[in-house]
Amino acid sequence: MIKPECIIEVEGLYTRFGDLVVHQDVNLCIYHGEVLTLIGGSGSGKTTLLRQMLGLEQPSEGNVKIFGSSWEDPDLNLQQKKMQSRTGVLFQQGALFSALSVFDNVALPLRELHTLSEEMIRELVMIKLDMVAIGPEHANKMPAALSGGMIKRIALARALALDPELLFLDEPTSGLDPELSESFEELILALRSEMDLTIVMVTHDLDTLVALSDRIAVLADQQVVVTGTLDEVCRFQHPFITSFFKSIRHKNNQENYLEQAWKTTHMPS
Ligand SMILES: Nc1ncnc2c1ncn2[C@@H]1O[C@H](COP(=O)(O)OP(=O)(O)OP(=O)(O)O)[C@@H](O)[C@H]1O
Ligand SMILES: [Mg+2]
Repeated sequence: MIKPECIIEVEGLYTRFGDLVVHQDVNLCIYHGEVLTLIGGSGSGKTTLLRQMLGLEQPSEGNVKIFGSSWEDPDLNLQQKKMQSRTGVLFQQGALFSALSVFDNVALPLRELHTLSEEMIRELVMIKLDMVAIGPEHANKMPAALSGGMIKRIALARALALDPELLFLDEPTSGLDPELSESFEELILALRSEMDLTIVMVTHDLDTLVALSDRIAVLADQQVVVTGTLDEVCRFQHPFITSFFKSIRHKNNQENYLEQAWKTTHMPS
């Protein structure tokens, strides 16, 4: 069997902030075309790991390879420019720039290319807004005038502005009510099949996790303790995994909720 290609490879990664040890020998491979969801307790280093994958932070030790190149390569600036056009990010905090209109937020990565005319930028922004079901009447609004669900969609439009191959989503449905979360998940699934995306996501939301993930990596004890399908992860014995999945079992009053949910989303009907 041909081994799938690793789009991102994290090898022997350590992160220390002074005395605080966040990661100790983290290893992870993200395959082309998959949705890999990273879970872990608050402060376990999920956002930090995403930032290291993006080259925004350097690990204390170890290596991160993205599209086969290491962030350690000598021509880093060149590398960074090349990577940025191949990746899109929906950050956990500050999804949109509050001083910029919806249009200007989505136009930002396109303008940074310095190669497109204003007319082309206008056309592309409108296409991206349409992709995330935001009508043109919202283009001139400021973020403060928008609902949480709209802000997430527009931030997604901005993340997709450069047609990335790799998309990072940090808590994409946090702060959304269940209905909005579900429509956001549907949007991600639709875009994924349209755009041949590889997605790395962090979420605390179990419904989002079940709806979108092909594989799950669990960050606990400063390491990735297990990586696998939902089923495989659920079977892995670890106190964090037990407590993470316990709350939802109570909420749904259904012991095999996870198995059912996974089958519903992954098995052909
Ligand atoms: N630049 C920094 N300087 C010092 N400490 C930092 C820095 N960045 C992160 N940390 C610390 O590292 C730990 C991991 O932070 P991180 O934001 O990656 O956690 P997280 O898993 O994303 O948490 P959450 O689920 O709350 O978003 C936290 O204790 C945080 O305070
Ligand atoms: Mg975080």
